[in-house]
Amino acid sequence: MGNIIQIFQNSDALADAVAKRWIELAELSIERSGAFHVALSGGSTPKRLFQLLAQPEYSPKVQWPKIHIYFGDERAVPLDHADSNYRMAKEALLDHVPIPASQIHPVYADPDNIQECADQYAQVLKQNLASENNFPQFDLCLQGIGNDGHTASLFPGTGILNERQRSVAEVYVEKLESWRISITFPVLEIARTVLFLVSGDGKADILQKILQKALEGEGDVAFPVQRIDRKEIEWFLDAAAASKLSKEAR
Ligand code: 6PG
Repeated sequence: MGNIIQIFQNSDALADAVAKRWIELAELSIERSGAFHVALSGGSTPKRLFQLLAQPEYSPKVQWPKIHIYFGDERAVPLDHADSNYRMAKEALLDHVPIPASQIHPVYADPDNIQECADQYAQVLKQNLASENNFPQFDLCLQGIGNDGHTASLFPGTGILNERQRSVAEVYVEKLESWRISITFPVLEIARTVLFLVSGDGKADILQKILQKALEGEGDVAFPVQRIDRKEIEWFLDAAAASKLSKEAR
């Protein structure tokens, strides 16, 4: 896995850099195919990025009518729930830019019907995305990382880590005592670009474990992120998150 690592002084500079890269990737995709199909990450880190993209400094640079929004994972809560990844993106970005509603694809994750919901989202991806090796191909998967090395909802010790047939699957996360729906490794591996946005000193340890080991070629793949089998991953970090990386790893 080729890691392309860029480190920025603070979280604002990081969000600015990722906003610029997001806009660049959107333009490249629109030039190539007429559209930009992007899977947004959840959690708290991307909120600043989403808010920036809606700002007058950035928003006019995006051909919003050609943008198609998906989610890399979702919690099994209503779309208006405080924990919903869709709600965060809606409030920070989607309510402020002119993307046609038909091009915004939330994940409906009903805990009482979770497998069918996962299969339904797989259908949404199949119907809207080009496929490569029988998996839906995103132009960009925007990813975060947890301090246990998960991304999307590919959590350590869960069965979804071994899912190589389905593009979207349900996963019960014991420590969170909750169901989630997530894209699977094959989708991350086939995406045109995978970009990790990581901020804050709380992520310094996991980044050191993952990126340092990749550099040193240590074989253990203890963390889900290390199991993404693809040529290249772009890492956008702030100095706090990168604080435990050696000079060589930067
Ligand atoms: C989610 C995410 C998840 C997230 C990491 C980091 O639904 O929680 O998709 O993979 O990216 O947990 O979350 P933070 O940005 O909140 O640290």
